Amino acid sequence: MAQNDLRKVTKNKNYHMRLVMVNGLDVFDAISERRSVRRYKDEPVPHDSLLKILEAARLAPSAGNRQPWMFIVVKDRERKKGLARASNNQLFMADAGAVITVLSDPDRSPKWYLQDPMIAVEHMCLEAVELGLGTCWIGAFDESSVKRILGVPDRLRVICLLTIGMPAEKPSRSSRKDLLEIVFEEFYDNPIRFQQ
Ligand SMILES: Cc1cc2nc3c(=O)[nH]c(=O)nc-3n(C[C@H](O)[C@H](O)[C@H](O)COP(=O)(O)O)c2cc1C
Repeated sequence: MAQNDLRKVTKNKNYHMRLVMVNGLDVFDAISERRSVRRYKDEPVPHDSLLKILEAARLAPSAGNRQPWMFIVVKDRERKKGLARASNNQLFMADAGAVITVLSDPDRSPKWYLQDPMIAVEHMCLEAVELGLGTCWIGAFDESSVKRILGVPDRLRVICLLTIGMPAEKPSRSSRKDLLEIVFEEFYDNPIRFQQ
């Protein structure tokens, strides 16, 4: 993706107007609707949608605003297959319109280089929901293989991969712990009371 292309689009005043919500979701709806999608239609991700998803990543917060992240967008089928093989043979990855490999630079943020990119990834997942696209975090991968396939320098880390594409499934909601199991009031292990 040409750098100028991205700058031109994001500086265009009408950019956000043109890309208004497809699904009309608010933030909580997007959080609630998001699923890990592992089956994709054989269709490319629209260019503007991909740009908006990447813009959502760019706007993520980071410790000291150091922004240690970088993103490699892979659309080439053979390269996607290579990444899938390097990810425990999760071959569905090759069917997604794009696979974004998320990198981080430990020199830029020695303490937070692992956490910061994760925030950017969830921004991308939620933006994808708004745009009617599916995503799946990929954490099971062989880092050195991914680096070799993409020509990533040794000093950088691969944080995760993210598939993005037109969903060919609508997974049901997976279970979550009850709020009562994970939230305490005032001190550890004191059950929260939800009345005001
Ligand atoms: C850090 C991280 C790594 C993950 N790695 C994988 C993976 O390698 N393959 C996969 O199919 N799903 C992966 N997932 C997706 C989880 O399995 C999924 O989020 C979880 O089961 C809850 O389902 P949901 O995303 O549909 O709500 C990963 C999720 C996270 C947050």
